[in-house]
Amino acid sequence: MGTFSFVRSSLEASLRQETEGFSSLVLEDLKQKQELLRLQARWVADRNDVSQATASGKKPLLLQTLLPIQAALQLNFIKVVAPDGSVLAELRQGAISQAKLQDEQVSRSASLGLDVSDIVSTQGNAPSLLVGQISIKSQEKVLGGLIVGTELNDDLLKKIRGNTQMHLVAFQDSQVIASTLAAARNTRWQIPTPESPPQRLNIANQGYMVKTVILTGVSGTAVKVVLLTSVKPLEQAERSLWLSLAGLCLLGGAIALIVAIWVTRWLTRRLHNLTSATQQLAAGDFSIRIKIDSKDEVGILAQDFNFMAEQLTARDQQICIQMQQLENTLQKLRQTQAQLIQSEKMSSLGQMVAGVAHEINNPTSFIYGNLIHISEYTHNLLGLVQLYQQNYPNPVQAIEKEIVAIELDFLEEDLPKLLQSMQTGCERIHEIVLSLRNFSRLDESDFKKVDIHSGIDSTLMILANRFKTQFKSQEIKVIKEYGNLPRVECYAGQINQVFMNILSNAIDAFEEKEQQENLCILNPEIHICTKVINNDWIAIHISDNGLGMSEEVRSKIFDPFFTTKQVGQGTGLGLFISYQIIVEKHSGRIECHSKLNEGTRCIVNIPVRQAKVIDIEDINSVTNTRV
Ligand SMILES: Nc1ncnc2c1ncn2[C@@H]1O[C@H](COP(=O)(O)OP(=O)(O)O)[C@@H](O)[C@H]1O
Ligand SMILES: [Mg+2]
Repeated sequence: MGTFSFVRSSLEASLRQETEGFSSLVLEDLKQKQELLRLQARWVADRNDVSQATASGKKPLLLQTLLPIQAALQLNFIKVVAPDGSVLAELRQGAISQAKLQDEQVSRSASLGLDVSDIVSTQGNAPSLLVGQISIKSQEKVLGGLIVGTELNDDLLKKIRGNTQMHLVAFQDSQVIASTLAAARNTRWQIPTPESPPQRLNIANQGYMVKTVILTGVSGTAVKVVLLTSVKPLEQAERSLWLSLAGLCLLGGAIALIVAIWVTRWLTRRLHNLTSATQQLAAGDFSIRIKIDSKDEVGILAQDFNFMAEQLTARDQQICIQMQQLENTLQKLRQTQAQLIQSEKMSSLGQMVAGVAHEINNPTSFIYGNLIHISEYTHNLLGLVQLYQQNYPNPVQAIEKEIVAIELDFLEEDLPKLLQSMQTGCERIHEIVLSLRNFSRLDESDFKKVDIHSGIDSTLMILANRFKTQFKSQEIKVIKEYGNLPRVECYAGQINQVFMNILSNAIDAFEEKEQQENLCILNPEIHICTKVINNDWIAIHISDNGLGMSEEVRSKIFDPFFTTKQVGQGTGLGLFISYQIIVEKHSGRIECHSKLNEGTRCIVNIPVRQAKVIDIEDINSVTNTRV
């Protein structure tokens, strides 16, 4: 609103200024008109024919002279007065032809020979005259005075106004004498004073900016000319200003609305991107990043988001690495634990076995050692008895009776057999002791060349009772198919542990099968086959026709602590330890093939030679075999 009133008042001010300027121009123009009349008067007065006609005092001649001049100069009024004030000639034309002119003053000053411009008023509605006056002289004297005039009428005002839109109204004593605006003549309105600045006025319902100027003649006669500038352009400008303002407001509003919608959408879209990126990040996708396309708050937010995502990614990677390290450590820990448990178990087993072997070995040694003497003594005693019988064929009755009672004949026959069987028993104990010591091999911490078959046999010997007594149905049949193996460089005790683990599992598999099916197993068999693969490798195949296992179980059997057996029965360490011994300690291979309900085959491949090997004799020759 402030802008509007400012624009409006500045428009009005410029109109006022324009009116003021025009009014001065109009006044100037009128004065120039008066000046022109004076010059025209001089020109006429200076003409010889005029001065001669005036000097002649002949009115007709003078009129005849002046008439063409009046026509040529388009003058409404020409008057020649004699120095005494009498009228020598007078010509009128236009509205003043019949009007009563108040020109006494002018005529008098003209007769006196004054060279001035003036205004002559008329009575009634006839226009006033703008006049110029001058003396007509001969070379010697003043012949009279000449007055030329032109009407201050509508035409003159129109000429002054020219092409402009303004109107001019001339007043004489509050009477309109000429006007370019018809309404100004017919309507009553208050003329502003010449001193007052341009002001707004309504004439016949039309608004004008009005300024009055006053044109005064030397005689004091004055004509007021009022300049009217229509305020229509101002009003139109105001209206169009209003319209423009309204239009601008509407346009501005529309643009603001469009911009607001666009900005809102833009912001919403970016915020939505940010939200969905946050959700993705929360769901674990740390690779998500937001494109930064501005430096505003949302841009800063996006930047912070990316920074956070970077940090999360780094942290995630760190956590992954740490988790991996933890996993590895745990794995190692489990392996170490498993190895510890197993080696502890095996070492106590080994110690026990070695201890038992030693304890049995001692008494067996002296029984076996004395058996020879007993046999010899018995032989001698029996020989002595026979000698007695030969020399004393008829013994006394008491002796005869005792011979019958002790069944001497049978005793003589049976005693050597008895002693022989005792010797066989001792030899069997000796073999067992050897096997036990062979199995435990506590003293061996280096690779040694050993006979794999004796290791297998020792292990079978230790497990012997499990082959016989466990099954309701039948004894487990062990079928050996030994190849011609060279002696193999290995940790003998550890390799025996492997055989022990595999063979125990086979026996377990029969037991489980029997328990599950609650039936007698037909022909339980363990098949042990050894063979040379090439110069460098040998293979041991241990197969059973027990329960077998599913592929899922088979894939896990080498994992530490994996067992399908009941608590207390299985530790899940047997095959894990076997794997460590064969693969890691002997650079060999171990694999297991199995089919559920059909059986299992374990294949162990070991190299014949290892680095750093001590070549020693077979365990049987090393062990103290003396009993
Ligand atoms: N000969 C086999 N027949 C059937 N299953 C077997 C045989 N050998 C091993 N397994 C399976 O492999 C698992 C792991 O064996 P192992 O490592 O010796 O641990 P454990 O005997 O203490 O269970 C056993 O629990 C069993 O399920
Ligand atoms: Mg086992």
